[in-house]
Amino acid sequence: MGNVTRFILALMMAVLLPHFVVSFSTKTTTNINTDQSALLALKACIVSDAQKILKTNWSAATSVCNWIGVTCGSRHQRVIALNLSSMLLTGTIPSQIGNLSFLTSLDLMNNSFYGFLPDQFTNLYRLKHIDLSWNNFYGEIPYSFPKLQYLSLRNNIFAGEIRSDMFEHLPRLQVLSLSLNKLSSEIPMGLFKCKELQVINFEYNRMMGGILPKEIGNLTMLRILRLGGNMFEGQIPSDLFERLPKLQRLDLGGNQLSGKIPLGLFNCKELQSLNLDSNKLEEILPKEIGNLTMTMLEVLDLDNNLLKGKRKTGGCYFS
Ligand SMILES: *[C@@H]1O[C@H](CO)[C@@H](O)[C@H](O)[C@H]1NC(C)=O
Ligand SMILES: *[C@@H]1O[C@H](CO)[C@@H](O)[C@H](O)[C@H]1NC(C)=O
Ligand SMILES: *[C@@H]1O[C@H](CO)[C@@H](O)[C@H](O)[C@H]1NC(C)=O
Ligand SMILES: *[C@@H]1O[C@H](CO)[C@@H](O)[C@H](O)[C@H]1NC(C)=O
Ligand SMILES: *[C@@H]1O[C@H](CO)[C@@H](O)[C@H](O)[C@H]1NC(C)=O
Ligand SMILES: *[C@@H]1O[C@H](CO)[C@@H](O)[C@H](O)[C@H]1NC(C)=O
Repeated sequence: MGNVTRFILALMMAVLLPHFVVSFSTKTTTNINTDQSALLALKACIVSDAQKILKTNWSAATSVCNWIGVTCGSRHQRVIALNLSSMLLTGTIPSQIGNLSFLTSLDLMNNSFYGFLPDQFTNLYRLKHIDLSWNNFYGEIPYSFPKLQYLSLRNNIFAGEIRSDMFEHLPRLQVLSLSLNKLSSEIPMGLFKCKELQVINFEYNRMMGGILPKEIGNLTMLRILRLGGNMFEGQIPSDLFERLPKLQRLDLGGNQLSGKIPLGLFNCKELQSLNLDSNKLEEILPKEIGNLTMTMLEVLDLDNNLLKGKRKTGGCYFS
């Protein structure tokens, strides 16, 4: 290599290197100021704040860590939790929410937030807890969070099909509530990859339906299963309850289920509440029902079926 070539190379390095360093650092460095601008963007999307909570309290003059509803982590001094539940807020969620990169918990329940959740929402890969219940969100359900344990979208206006791969990317999910929306799909098979699920609530979507997948029975941690007020049909799979020893609450009421109540249900010794009303279940009420009423059962509702067996009374509530 000649001296001239070397000189030109060195010159190019000298000119280009700082450029690389600068562009690299602006891409990766986020800090508490990033969190502040994300939260100010959220504040700007609030169209009604009846109690003037954010209006007066979320002031750029004080650290975001002192703002109402905001929690910062002690290690990085970054926003780790945002809780604006029950604050009478109306507004939308801006794309800047995706810049709250240390966020582990988001609770906006019981407000009047509306609209789509921005694509950038799925950048929040540290989230463990999302509660958006009792708002007016619609559009695509957020679906890819490697650490998410709790997801409640109860009482919003999410409609249509649940995307088939929705649950493939929620490996740690323990609590799932999509009840009181307008969903119309079957239960996606990917759900049964969420081995840690303890609570499933799809109640009152009215249009969710299809056959009950027997794979529900593989979710051995399940404590609560609520599918009432939908259009599930066909027989309850006979082995559905063989491996659900922790089941405490089962609500399949208000569907189109037919056939017999599987005897395996009576292996669920922890069962406290059983609601199968308003279906087309038939045949004799199994005498094993007595095994439940002797133990934990507090609520039993089998009304409006085609059952012929005798009802036992005593100790528990028969509606
Ligand atoms: C905002 O609210 C927090 C918590 O109630 C309080 O500690 C803080 O002083 C308030 N800040 C302002 C600027 O009102
Ligand atoms: C949010 O705040 C409310 C009221 O203080 C509280 O009941 C709720 O548990 C909080 N949510 C989370 C996720 O901690
Ligand atoms: C919802 O928010 C309103 C207004 O803050 C409050 O009065 C009500 O108790 C809240 N409901 C629930 C279920 O938290
Ligand atoms: C935050 O998010 C917005 C929109 O997603 C983006 O344009 C912006 O550059 C991001 N970064 C910072 C540091 O605010
Ligand atoms: C459910 O469990 C059965 C029996 O252990 C197994 O053969 C089947 O592959 C499991 N299904 C799913 C979807 O995990
Ligand atoms: C119900 O209880 C009786 C008497 O304890 C017992 O013989 C029977 O095996 C039990 N049935 C089931 C399904 O657990």
